[in-house]
Amino acid sequence: MTCYLFALSLDYTKNHVGKSVSVLNDLICPLDNQPLVLKDRSLVCLSGHSFDLAKSGYVNLLPVQNKRSKDPGDSKEMVASRKAFLELGYYEPIAESIASYLSKNHTLGESIRFFDAGCGEGYYLNYIKQTCSQNGKAVNATGLDISKWAITAASKSNKSIDWIVGSNAHIPTNSDCFDVVICLFGFPVFSEFARILKPGGLLLMADVGANHLIELRRILYPQIHNYEDGLSKGVEEFSPIVEQELTFTFQLTSQVDIQSLLSMTPHIHKAPYEGRKALEQVDNLTLTADVKLRWYTKNTEVTENNND
Ligand SMILES: C[S@@+](CC[C@H](N)C(=O)[O-])C[C@H]1O[C@@H](n2cnc3c(N)ncnc32)[C@H](O)[C@@H]1O
Repeated sequence: MTCYLFALSLDYTKNHVGKSVSVLNDLICPLDNQPLVLKDRSLVCLSGHSFDLAKSGYVNLLPVQNKRSKDPGDSKEMVASRKAFLELGYYEPIAESIASYLSKNHTLGESIRFFDAGCGEGYYLNYIKQTCSQNGKAVNATGLDISKWAITAASKSNKSIDWIVGSNAHIPTNSDCFDVVICLFGFPVFSEFARILKPGGLLLMADVGANHLIELRRILYPQIHNYEDGLSKGVEEFSPIVEQELTFTFQLTSQVDIQSLLSMTPHIHKAPYEGRKALEQVDNLTLTADVKLRWYTKNTEVTENNND
C-alpha cells in the first residue's frame, strides 16, 4: 500500500491571524483515487476533478453517484439536537475515557494522525484533540461524516481539523496514513478502516450496552427488546486489545434537554407515537449511560497480504 506525500506540509499552517488551520492532507479523489492537491480554494486531482472548499473550510468528497439519497446521514435537526445535547457535557466521561487511553498509550508517538469515521458535529474529535494536546501529544485530525449538516457544524467549531463530507464505504484518503481510527456509535466499514490505518494502528469502536438510556426506553416502548452486541462482527482484520465498559448516570431537568437527547437517538424514528407522547409529559429524568469502548490493533498480516 502506498502513502503519497504531497508538496504540502504535514504540519498545520497558520492563517493570517496566526491561528492553526487544517491543510487537508492525504486526500484522494473520490472519482479516480488520484491524490488531491490544494490549489487556491479547491482540491484538484491530476485528471482535473475539482472540489471547492466551503467557506467554513470543509470539503465535500461525496460525489452524487456515491449517494444513496439526496441528503444522506443525519438531518439538520438531528445534528442540531446532538450538538445541543453534547454541549451540556453529560457525555464528557466517554470523551475523557478515550482521550485518557490515547494519552497514556506508549505505542503512539508524540504526534498522532487521527481519523474520526462518522464524526457527527465533531464533539468527540474536538475534545480528544484538545485533551491530547494538553497532555503533550500533537494530534493531526481528520473528521469525516456523510451528513453535510454534521460537517458544516463541525467545520465551524474547529479550523485546525480537516473536515470532510464523505462515506465510510469509500474513505477518500490515502492508505496506511493514520495511527488511530475511531468509529463512535456509527456505521463501520472495517475493510476501509484497515486500509487507511498504518500497520499496528489502533481502531476504537464504541457502541451502547444493554442498559443504555434504559429509563428513556422504558417510557418510549411497551416492551424492551433483548440487547444485541453488534460490535464484534466483521473485525477479522483487527485483534482486540482491551474493552472498557463505561456506566454512569446523569439527570436531565427540562423537557427541552430530554427532547434534544431523544432527537439524537434512533428512538426518534423508532418509538411509537404513544411512547413519544408519554415522554413529552416528563421534565425530570435520571438516565443511565452504558457504553462499550473496544480497542483493536490492525493485524500486520493484512498489510503484508495487500502488498503482494
Ligand atoms: C449516531 S451518529 C454518531 C456521531 C458521532 N460519532 C457521535 O458519537 O457524536 C452517526 C453518524 O454517522 C453518520 N453516518 C451515517 N452513515 C455514514 C457513512 N456511511 N459514512 C460516514 N458517516 C455516516 C451520520 O450522519 C451520523 O452523523
